[in-house]
Amino acid sequence: MTAPVASPAVAKAVIDPQSYADWDPLLDLFDQIRAETPVLRIESGDDDHEPFWLITRYDDVMRISKDNTTFLNAPRPVVFTNRQGEQFARHITAQQGDESPNLVSSLVALDAPKHPKLRRLTQDWFMPKNLRSIEADIRALAAKTADRLVAAGTDVDFVKEVAAPYPLHVVMQILGVPEEDEGRMLFLTQQMFGGQDEELNKSGMANLTPEQITQIVFGAVADFEAYFEQLAAQRRANPTGDVATILANAVVDGAPLSPRDLAGYYIITASAGHDTTSASTAGAMLALARDPDQFAKVKADRSLLPNIVEEAIRWTTPVQHFMRMAAQDVEISGVKVAKGDWLMINYVAANHDPAQFDNPRKFDVTRDQTRHLAFGAGAHQCLGLHLARLEMRLLFEALLDRIGSVELAGQPRRAKSTFVGGLKTLPLRIAA
Ligand code: HEM
Repeated sequence: MTAPVASPAVAKAVIDPQSYADWDPLLDLFDQIRAETPVLRIESGDDDHEPFWLITRYDDVMRISKDNTTFLNAPRPVVFTNRQGEQFARHITAQQGDESPNLVSSLVALDAPKHPKLRRLTQDWFMPKNLRSIEADIRALAAKTADRLVAAGTDVDFVKEVAAPYPLHVVMQILGVPEEDEGRMLFLTQQMFGGQDEELNKSGMANLTPEQITQIVFGAVADFEAYFEQLAAQRRANPTGDVATILANAVVDGAPLSPRDLAGYYIITASAGHDTTSASTAGAMLALARDPDQFAKVKADRSLLPNIVEEAIRWTTPVQHFMRMAAQDVEISGVKVAKGDWLMINYVAANHDPAQFDNPRKFDVTRDQTRHLAFGAGAHQCLGLHLARLEMRLLFEALLDRIGSVELAGQPRRAKSTFVGGLKTLPLRIAA
């Protein structure tokens, strides 16, 4: 098959952060692309970014995610970035002796043999068996958060009151970050993930140049590194049972983690652990506010809670894509992809694939096909997925105990972001 190449308008829409703030037109675009050209070449009209293949079918995204030998994370940027951004990252990391296109050396930016060695360090900690030891603390926090929401009055911004602070607090406890520093961590994460949105990045300006955005992200990375270096020193002196202690004292191949690997591990856990869960939590509440019947159903039957959580994670798909590089020539859905080519596995498109999900745009708490791709698959599948599910289940238990009805009180707004996205405001009217 000859390579299908996107028109300039489609290519622009796929990489424009604004597209991800306008959800329904984005889903329309992915439906069209998936139906006509499920493996589509995206080229920049002004050569601003490297060309890549956009992958939109569920089955193709699953196959690529699970084949970690043919499709690598490390050699190319693991999140979409333009040439300038990549050069900037390479310039900085070369100074750190790493020569990586990824600013942060985190699990998602590594391949075997190093990736599994680092992942194993905390894998057991994040399994359900160990999470039971912190369940009571999370339940208490969920109750406190729900009480605070009810006390805030009838008209509230759910993102500000609940969806943003609650997962942040959980992940900060795990990492051993004291409560007084949480605001700083939230701010830093928003710089890293919200760099494309003027309300979330620190400049407050629209239309930043790629160089300015990269500077903002790099500033956040440097702040994170300095912060966690101090924390690791404390945990070496006074070990506890938290993830920070495991990492600060870890030994791999006979040596402690390098400062860059150590900081990268903290950064991925701190950052991946809250904006994502926050977006799914807010999305679930939006769906329930729009659909009183589903709200009544789950309020009456709490056995539906795990389904709400799973459906919310699929329906919102907060991590919108990751990138991979083909390690050899390979064919995907009949299209020839060459060794060295860059690919975007698009989880939003995959999780709205009608070949996998009936009526994919409907939020349906009774859906039986729950095998979604929002957590990815294969060697890099989300390390925190059991934690995310647990946090959300406990929160919705607490909310449903306290809330009698909920409706929208204004227009919710989504973040402008190609990578991690979701609601940044959700005005609700709540009756206790
Ligand atoms: C709804 C919430 C969440 C979503 C949608 C989500 C999604 C993802 C996705 C798509 C990946 C990449 C998977 C792949 O490449 O196949 C990932 C990786 C990761 N996530 Fe999550 N995540 C969530 C919550 C969390 C939480 C709560 C934590 C930890 C506290 C966490 C920590 C990580 C880490 C460490 C990785 C890297 C794993 C690796 O590369 O080996 N995530 N997540």
